[in-house]
Amino acid sequence: MDGRDLVRSIRVVGSVGAFQGLRAVRAAWRRRRADATALPPRGAERARVPGRVLEVEPAAGGGVVRFGRSELRIMVTVNGAVFWGWDGAGPEPSYALAGRCPEPDLRAVLEPDKDGGWRVVAERVTVVVSRHGAVEVRTPGGVTLRRDLPPRWWEPVGGGPARWMQRSEVAADARFFGLGGRSSGPRLREGTYRLWNTDPGGSFAPGDDPLYITMPVQMVVSDAATHLVFHDSSWDGTVSLREGEEGAGSGHDRPGMSELRMDGGPLRCWVMVGTPARVLLAWASLTGAPALPPAWALGHHHARWGFGSEQEVRRIVAGYQERGLPLDAVHLDIDHYDEHQVFTVDHERFPKLPVLAEELRRDGIRLVSIVDPAVSAEEGDVVYDGGTAEDAFVRDASGRVVHGVAWPGEAVFPDFTHARVREWWGGLYAERLAQGFSGFWHDMNEPTSFTAFGEKTLPRSARHSLEGRGGDHQEAHNVYGLCMARAGYEGLLELAPHERPFLFSRSGWAGLQRYGGTWSGDVATGWPGLRASLSLVLGLSLCGVPYSGPDIGGFDGSPSPELYLRWFQLGAYLPLFRTHAGLRGGRREPWEFGPEVLEHARVALEERRRLLPYLMTLAHLARRTGAPYVRPLWWNAPEDRALRDCEDAFLLGDCLLVAPVLDPGTDRRAVQLPRGRWYDAVSEQVYEGPAQVLVDAPLSRIPVLVRAGAVLPVRGSDGGLELEAWAPAQSRTGGGLVVPDAGDGWDEPELERYVTRWQGPGLVVELEGEGGPSEPPCPVRVRGLGEAGAQT
Ligand code: GLC
Repeated sequence: MDGRDLVRSIRVVGSVGAFQGLRAVRAAWRRRRADATALPPRGAERARVPGRVLEVEPAAGGGVVRFGRSELRIMVTVNGAVFWGWDGAGPEPSYALAGRCPEPDLRAVLEPDKDGGWRVVAERVTVVVSRHGAVEVRTPGGVTLRRDLPPRWWEPVGGGPARWMQRSEVAADARFFGLGGRSSGPRLREGTYRLWNTDPGGSFAPGDDPLYITMPVQMVVSDAATHLVFHDSSWDGTVSLREGEEGAGSGHDRPGMSELRMDGGPLRCWVMVGTPARVLLAWASLTGAPALPPAWALGHHHARWGFGSEQEVRRIVAGYQERGLPLDAVHLDIDHYDEHQVFTVDHERFPKLPVLAEELRRDGIRLVSIVDPAVSAEEGDVVYDGGTAEDAFVRDASGRVVHGVAWPGEAVFPDFTHARVREWWGGLYAERLAQGFSGFWHDMNEPTSFTAFGEKTLPRSARHSLEGRGGDHQEAHNVYGLCMARAGYEGLLELAPHERPFLFSRSGWAGLQRYGGTWSGDVATGWPGLRASLSLVLGLSLCGVPYSGPDIGGFDGSPSPELYLRWFQLGAYLPLFRTHAGLRGGRREPWEFGPEVLEHARVALEERRRLLPYLMTLAHLARRTGAPYVRPLWWNAPEDRALRDCEDAFLLGDCLLVAPVLDPGTDRRAVQLPRGRWYDAVSEQVYEGPAQVLVDAPLSRIPVLVRAGAVLPVRGSDGGLELEAWAPAQSRTGGGLVVPDAGDGWDEPELERYVTRWQGPGLVVELEGEGGPSEPPCPVRVRGLGEAGAQT
């Protein structure tokens, strides 16, 4: 245990109270003992590399290349993705894949390459395998995007899982993104990033790594193309990154480097090549379309740990209502449980929860419930007894149920990697629905078990079903939250089939988007925490999880009015727009920070409400195309290097560029603009990109720029749908997409495509249709004409 760990463990013990602290010490010893017996030290190991190529065997989409000491299976699939696996690994079974592996692309063939190597040539990508087992991915034009050197394995002489290492080179100009939710990004600089879902304890700030959602998913952006690489192993590992350097030493480029080390699991990977949009489309087709949230989930949420009673909930809701502030959801944390036990209610402090829920719902406000996986190990408790009868809880190598420590005290953990356990757990949401809850907030599912020292999770030797294959926590840990999300999502689909399940989960893995979204977790109150919030949302977006957002104001402290407001203004443009704070965090109601902050927060809340149809459209587009709501500035121009390095602004869909204020005392800020004309959304001032421009950022608002020619669906003052069309530059055209959504349910509304164009001095906005263009079916407000007029 190093000094940092010690500080952390003291923090943990301190934060859960003395009684829990004692339990945490016991749990730590138990955990250590369990692993010491069931997972003896690895002992001597034998290193192995593939050796020389011996023969090949063509197969659909590619084939198998046999080496002296391994074999490599390559397959290009119909969605344009490339799979390869060493040592006979195939794409399945996999927790990341949405269904069955996509079909092979029969046009891709294996053919000899120079120097005894082989290659698979497909429409969008060529994969070249050297005679020693290096694998290169090239664009159709022949530019190398990545070169994976021959891998290396270390096999324990006495048997057991092999560790492996894969080193890869990328272009000198390449930038790395992704790896799940990271606090110091979105651009991932030189460093080592761990792949092990972790509750950092207390709160986290930039530099704390790893956090709750790690994924072996990298988005690599270079001049030649963008590619996504996914190493499909859920085991513990690390990724070490080093950006390259052009014209380094004697004028030669030094390539970028990525080195992946895994403690086990198959060495297999997927690579997708193209534009960012193409890459995420292929990723979504492989790992599943993002779940569509109900419309209310795109509104404003207010949460806190420690409302403590129904009266306090009513007081806060009344506070919003009296001030005419939009509110769409209130979240109840563990303090509404009876003794912190999941799927229970403290009836003294929340005596009539269903009545409260019903009243709130009439006012358009939904209740969201926290759901923790740990179950109090208390005989006589319905959930514990039910789970015991189902044999639902994780056992150790000797067959005893594993006990850990969580909020309710001594606790046991469902094994969500078992279909039967998922089904049992999913059924428990009936109790939540009966209490009147509409949405679910999965927490502590890394899983976290408090411990005085060592890892704050289950023993690595704990056994899991892994869908009947059997295995231990080393393999199951990173997919635990993902499988819990699946249990909740599928349960809700059964219980309330006409509603779109709404859940978001602190932990997860590749594919989490199929079931819901996530949030920042316990981000530290402070300006660095604000910056980390944006890094997390963008990083997760690029790993295919588009719905997320931070605890506005930070989790653990009392933000200054200025910090709170800037966080609030950023949150208003992120998919999950939620204020939240921990037990000891200060207040988060917008009126608690003085009249000036209240008025500016009101503007942000009203703008969020006005943009709801646009956000709903983005949710549909995410589901249909994999494109996230929140995108890096380089989304449409990955070749623009200035944009690639820009981390303090983002695109919200195709139409908006949001430049949040991330530093105190700011009233202007620089914005790196992508190509084209942009308008300030409020002043309508015109800016021409690509350029770096200085824009006003008064306390009253953060800069939002609109792409010239854009058409956005917005909520009109009467609550109906309206279109906001922005003038394209002269002799240019523009447009926008609208998906009219009923708010909930499973209807598949048709996508509407609008175009803007000049006709003489006038601007025309039309709905495109099969029978030709027609008048939009709703009012249109045209903006940005001042400048256009001045231009003619
Ligand atoms: C965890 C969650 C936080 C929640 C708290 C109590 O720290 O991340 O959001 O408020 O637990 O449930």
